[in-house]
Amino acid sequence: MEWLSFEGWVLMVISVCAVCACKALMVKREEKGVEREGEGFVIPRGSWGWPLIGETLEFIASGYTSRPVSFMEKRKSLYGDVFRTNILGKAIVVSTDPDVSKMILLNHGNDAFIPCYPKSITELLGKSSILQMNGPLHKRVHALIGVFLKSTSLKARITRDIEKVIRLSLSSWMDKSYHVHLQDETKKITFEILVRVLMSIGPGDEMECLKREFEEFIKGLICLPVNLPGTRLYKSLKAKERLLKIVGKIVTERKMATEKNEEKGMPNDAIDVLLRDSGESDGMQEHRLPLDFISGNIIEMMIPGEETMPTAMTLAVKFLTDNPVALAHLVEENMELRKRKVQSSEEYSWHDYMSLPFTQNVINETLRLANIINAVWRKALKDVKIKGYLIPKGWCVMTSFSSVHMDETNYENPNEFDPWRWKEIGAAANSNIFTPFGGGQRLCPGLELSRLQISIFLHHLVTTYRLSAQKDEIIYFPTVRMKRKLPITVTPLEQ
Ligand code: HEM
Repeated sequence: MEWLSFEGWVLMVISVCAVCACKALMVKREEKGVEREGEGFVIPRGSWGWPLIGETLEFIASGYTSRPVSFMEKRKSLYGDVFRTNILGKAIVVSTDPDVSKMILLNHGNDAFIPCYPKSITELLGKSSILQMNGPLHKRVHALIGVFLKSTSLKARITRDIEKVIRLSLSSWMDKSYHVHLQDETKKITFEILVRVLMSIGPGDEMECLKREFEEFIKGLICLPVNLPGTRLYKSLKAKERLLKIVGKIVTERKMATEKNEEKGMPNDAIDVLLRDSGESDGMQEHRLPLDFISGNIIEMMIPGEETMPTAMTLAVKFLTDNPVALAHLVEENMELRKRKVQSSEEYSWHDYMSLPFTQNVINETLRLANIINAVWRKALKDVKIKGYLIPKGWCVMTSFSSVHMDETNYENPNEFDPWRWKEIGAAANSNIFTPFGGGQRLCPGLELSRLQISIFLHHLVTTYRLSAQKDEIIYFPTVRMKRKLPITVTPLEQ
């Protein structure tokens, strides 16, 4: 090896020594991890990876491939369905076992786990956000919102509103010569519906202003947690202050109007629900929710719906346009419903949309394959023992939904978009091997609203236009989205 100088040799020897030292340290860290065994429960096997960065690089790299679940699969084959690792600076137990994940989502009885988010998210949310709060207050707010979003009165009204927003949006595509980026269009639709449900705001300056500030706010959800003037986090926190002012004004005006008119009747939106609740139904003394708490939570409730919904709508179209047989089947089913409605001159009901079996199967399959929320994170408040495993106090735990959804023991040919599989799975759509909306105490309260919105969107889309999508790719990190925002061309069916 004449090409290597003396300095080169020295550098090489130092590098080899450094790598060996790191590896030795890693082995030591791995040994340390299994030390705390007791009463037949073991800390899951796994690797801590490299000092400081752990296995973060491999985790992120897998997110940029077409199979993000490969990170989990590799470790699952080495260490079992529940393993430990170190990613994003945290010691973490990953569960790909549906039974273990279920126990975690159920909070292992009570008070065992709390949500665990990256620092930038916790800074932006604030402690009294529904996404972070715990205990009786969380139960109260979760139940209030859940009951409202599932109420029959909302279902009837929101079906009309969603139809209106979607029809208007579809007709605006004519001005764009029928070429649209679907991801952008579905974002607009979703935002409009979300602000109607949460605070009864319709199109106009106020909504545009909310949209601008909200977009600025959520840019900081995944960023360096440094809050200094000029940083991303700082700008997002400032946008949140402005949002709080706008929403705070709406909440205060509503409170005054409610007191004046002593309005009772059904609540119109989430603001009404939170304003009217006295807390007495919990058997507690009257304890109204403070106005700033309501404003903050209204903003934070927009976060889980704002990105997930447009992604689900866009990916449903992506999977369907990649699979012409499924698309033809969906068109046939929806055309039949449309014909029935035209003949009877009846309005569509919530039930009409939700009882289209193939369309519901397409939605299930889209949610399974897209894994829009691929996992949820919790932190153990105490040592927790589940199914022979010990999750030590203070550790994070990740329930990986995508590993379960993409496991061939649960779904045959899991990488294939196969809506017909749901004909057989049927009731299992609600089991613990299908959890796109999470489960347990934090099960998504927007579950039914989401399904309704996707159903209405698909119905009007395929009964108004013929579709063709351009080639595009799904990106899985940091969130699921289309690389080119899914450009599609639509041709009106009645031309
Ligand atoms: C396809 C669309 C959606 C998906 C895949 C989805 C998924 C999820 C998941 C997995 C969770 C559980 C998080 C956890 O356990 O930490 C969740 C929670 C939540 N979702 Fe959704 N969601 C969707 C749409 C919506 C919509 C439209 C809304 C708003 C109306 C909404 C509001 C919420 C709220 C408020 C929570 C927090 C519940 C709590 O912590 O008590 N979601 N969602």
